[in-house]
Amino acid sequence: MDDDLILKNAKPVPRYTSYPTAPHFSEAVGCSEYETWLSAIEPGEALSIYAHVPYCDRLCWFCACHTKQTLRYEPVATYLNGLHREIAAIGGRVNGEAKVTALHLGGGSPTLLRPDDLIALKQAFARHFAFSGDCEISVEMDPNDLDEARHDALAAIGMTRASFGVQDFDSVVQKAINRIQTFEQTRDAIEASRARGVRSVNCDVLYGLPYQSLPSLEATIDAVTSLAPDRVALFGYAHVPWMKKHQSMIPDESLPGIVERFDQMSRAAEMLVAAGYEAVGIDHFAKPDDSLAIASREGRLRRNFQGYTTDSAETLIGLGASSIGQFRQGYVQNMPATGEYLRQVEQTGLAAIRGYRLTPDDRLRARVIASIMCDFSFSFAEVAGEFPGGGAVIEEAKLFRARDVDGLTTIEDGIFRLTARGRPFARSVAAVFDAHLQSGRGRHSVAV
Ligand SMILES: C[S@@+](CC[C@H](N)C(=O)[O-])C[C@H]1O[C@@H](n2cnc3c(N)ncnc32)[C@H](O)[C@@H]1O
Ligand code: SF4
Repeated sequence: MDDDLILKNAKPVPRYTSYPTAPHFSEAVGCSEYETWLSAIEPGEALSIYAHVPYCDRLCWFCACHTKQTLRYEPVATYLNGLHREIAAIGGRVNGEAKVTALHLGGGSPTLLRPDDLIALKQAFARHFAFSGDCEISVEMDPNDLDEARHDALAAIGMTRASFGVQDFDSVVQKAINRIQTFEQTRDAIEASRARGVRSVNCDVLYGLPYQSLPSLEATIDAVTSLAPDRVALFGYAHVPWMKKHQSMIPDESLPGIVERFDQMSRAAEMLVAAGYEAVGIDHFAKPDDSLAIASREGRLRRNFQGYTTDSAETLIGLGASSIGQFRQGYVQNMPATGEYLRQVEQTGLAAIRGYRLTPDDRLRARVIASIMCDFSFSFAEVAGEFPGGGAVIEEAKLFRARDVDGLTTIEDGIFRLTARGRPFARSVAAVFDAHLQSGRGRHSVAV
């Protein structure tokens, strides 16, 4: 692909795991809206739950997650007490007949929890919420944490999907990102999960890392595919040292440029497809019989704060410091600082600090942006049918197409669609429909 085209369309824009995105949340929405929204959950409604563990026993220099390193367990134990309080407080406000269909433990590293604490956490959820029989239980796994007792505890809580952080296997890259993790360690952790009945394994892989080259990335992709994960998430390294100070340990000059990043992404994608994976959305790959690939083929792919999902629940409850919940009415986010989070849950059980109430225009644009990010297209007839104001967005799509000299999009039979050339720039095309972008809140990472 033409270098100019890549540079032109790789300008920093959001990753659109929500619309509007988190920098637009404000204190106009807090605990009282949260309470109202929780009590409006209907009996029988499907619920998705995310619980955040903002601790790791190592700190990788590339990491943009909300976490901090701790070598002592005491802060983790204190945090878990707060999480238990929040689970009870929220469980008490939600209709007892709403059914949890997905529980995701993320972080940070939930795998640093002691085995008994993992089990106690799941028991607390089971005490305060009703779970559906086929609830998906997924956990973000740091292979470095895992021992037999933790694997047993993860099996005991009924984990169905294990998502392993891999990033890159090259030793020079690993040193530069302060994350030493051998292939054997990763392989053994995956095998131990599978031996305990985990059916779905995901590996996170990054491109755009310091000192990464095409040959080193190719070797990593070969190693990853030899482990036969069901899914691979291929993320571009987001270098945001103004937000994450420890990223400044990574020298700017060690980072691949935008065109190199694009080539790395394209090569990794090509290898994954050649290895039998189907591309899903902008950054996922899944075996054809994996539920994510099936949902993508059937137009049922969804996007939430954890990325792409098959989860169709309209309500996502976020627990723990910094977590974001998603409701029909809008979004709500918990206090990010663990100390404040703990003080707040101690007092009221809820720790919401900011959020966003959706307007009719937001709902329309959220729908269009989600369709672009998931399906690379949206139908004019559907949008006009679902939203009285749909005509405005359709006009914007036509105007964009008229000016799209690079051939990123087409409009045929009333469908606005990204071309093969346009797909790598889905974030940039989605940004065209973002009415909040111009407000200048939030600085984002490059779009490829
Ligand atoms: C919570 S971690 C995964 C679990 C576990 N803590 C681990 O590292 O193995 C979530 C994932 O986010 C991705 N990630 C973290 N920082 C990133 C960044 N700056 N840019 C892109 N992806 C990033 C990594 O691929 C990482 O595996
Ligand atoms: S990548 Fe994972 S283990 Fe490393 S600091 Fe981030 S959350 Fe922790």
